[in-house]
Amino acid sequence: MKIIMLGAPGAGKGTQAKKIADYYHIPHISTGDIFRANIKNGTELGKKAKEYMDQGLLVPDELTCDLVTDRVAKEDCANGYILDGFPRTIPQAEALERALNAMGTDMDYAVNVDVPDANIVNRMAGRRACLNCGGTYHLEFLRPKTEGICDTCGSELVLRDDDKPETVQKRLDVYHAQTQPLIDFYENKGILKTIDGTQEIDKVFADIIQILGE
Ligand code: AP5
Ligand code: MG
Repeated sequence: MKIIMLGAPGAGKGTQAKKIADYYHIPHISTGDIFRANIKNGTELGKKAKEYMDQGLLVPDELTCDLVTDRVAKEDCANGYILDGFPRTIPQAEALERALNAMGTDMDYAVNVDVPDANIVNRMAGRRACLNCGGTYHLEFLRPKTEGICDTCGSELVLRDDDKPETVQKRLDVYHAQTQPLIDFYENKGILKTIDGTQEIDKVFADIIQILGE
């Protein structure tokens, strides 16, 4: 099963993608997590990506597309995968489609986690992230077992640099201008599924599984 997660920053793409990946035993590929890992490790890609991410802007397509199209060609993606945070622009969606068609395949579902902007700013302030394994928590809605520590890998949890309220607003603006058009793009391909992302985390997940199948 090959799935794309769509949705505004903070809609819950990462939270749900992790659960879906565990459920179907497929890799979870998050471009945001890949960039953050590169920043943490001080790579050239990380240095370039950070300039854009800290301003709430998108990293240029030329730094992003090959990264993902190379990743989905790896052996562990043979039975499917879930893309979280990619594609984010129409050119990215077209690059993905070209690469998949060249491999004789295509995406199965684009899951749109729908949350109004008003709910998002609140959520972001309470988010805590693990920069080591990509785990995501919330001070109120999804607390780790030990305060400030990732349940999965034991690393310290942090407030992401781009979760300051003024940067969150910029990311929302960028989302509406550059990423929202993908909803129509995948609707026209007949693979869009929209989920109410304002519900509790487990209810959102149950709705997704109902659509994707057991
Ligand atoms: P990325 O890491 O993808 O960030 P994003 O899209 O802004 O989305 P977030 O990760 O902030 O939110 P999410 O939807 O995953 O929500 P989460 O599950 O954490 O990208 C970061 C940056 O990298 C971009 O701004 C860009 O610069 C760059 N980038 C990445 N990909 C790119 C690309 N393809 N092209 C160009 N640039 C790219 O949930 C949020 C919080 O809410 C958490 O605390 C969670 O616990 C909580 N929560 C989740 N669901 C619920 C619920 N149902 N109820 C209550 N709380 C909930
Ligand atoms: Mg995320």
